[in-house]
Amino acid sequence: MRKIGILTSGGDTPGMNAAIRAAVKTALHLDMSVYGVLHGYNGLIEGQLIKLQREDVADIIHKGGTILKTARSESFKTEEGFEKALSTIKASGLEGLIVIGGDGSMRGARALSEHKVPTIGLPGTIDNDLSYTDYSIGFYTAVNSVIQELYKIMDTMDSLDRIGVVEVMGNKSGCIALYSGLAGASDYIILPEMPFDIDEICKGLCAERIKGKTSCVIVVSEASGDCDKIAEYITQKTGFDARGIELGHIQRGGDPTAFDRILASRMGAHAVKLLSQGIGNRVIGIRNDKIVDYDITEALGMQRTFDKELYDLALMLTE
Ligand code: F6P
Repeated sequence: MRKIGILTSGGDTPGMNAAIRAAVKTALHLDMSVYGVLHGYNGLIEGQLIKLQREDVADIIHKGGTILKTARSESFKTEEGFEKALSTIKASGLEGLIVIGGDGSMRGARALSEHKVPTIGLPGTIDNDLSYTDYSIGFYTAVNSVIQELYKIMDTMDSLDRIGVVEVMGNKSGCIALYSGLAGASDYIILPEMPFDIDEICKGLCAERIKGKTSCVIVVSEASGDCDKIAEYITQKTGFDARGIELGHIQRGGDPTAFDRILASRMGAHAVKLLSQGIGNRVIGIRNDKIVDYDITEALGMQRTFDKELYDLALMLTE
């Protein structure tokens, strides 16, 4: 394979640029040329391709976002859009493609592979909700962003004797909530994988107040409920001043951590090596610190297991 494409799709994640850089540099090293497809699958439909050279990926390893831009493409899911995307690939002579994104993006990668476009998927989502990898690119950076905010929130909650209910992203997964709640030493963690009883939490808050703890931070995953409603309920039930704080998109921005830069570099390079050998229809993951790859369909069928041990540890450490 001599000519390949690369695109980023879905929500951006810190580390996407590091993966693009690694893919371009590896490809050039192997005498392959790389074309960046702009705006995710939409760029394939509209033929937005740019040749990427070494200088295009200089000075980007540390930057959040994606130099290729991204999109959640609805058109790619239509027959017409998909056919146009295939035509672009054919017309531009791309022999293979790398897609960096989350679950939906991997389904797109599979569809292309099924239409004889060798495609490699890289896990790029802050949610860390893909079953075939221990970590996805951007997850740890998002957790770091959350804990930085948590400490600021703790300062102000403490000054005013308030309860902060901090809502974090994660889509249907509680991974960001669990890791940031543990690393940020939050008092409670509410996530979709485990049942929670808000009345028990209220009882706990009252008991702690009696013992002299006048402020508290609760991390809640977006799938477990609206932070404002939870805060309102707590205020009604306990009389304490509780505030909902939605962290929002700051969790997706910012410079990737060293972990994400290295993860993305390893995965980007591995993707190109597979394509250089004519191998497509694979997704890349990391298992026990080893870069692995799986058949896309097999990977999409895997079940993600919740890390109950880590959850129990987080609970024990909040006591
Ligand atoms: O998948 C990444 C993610 O940030 C989720 O955590 C969140 O639910 C969603 O994307 C937000 O999407 P949007 O950027 O379209 O608001």
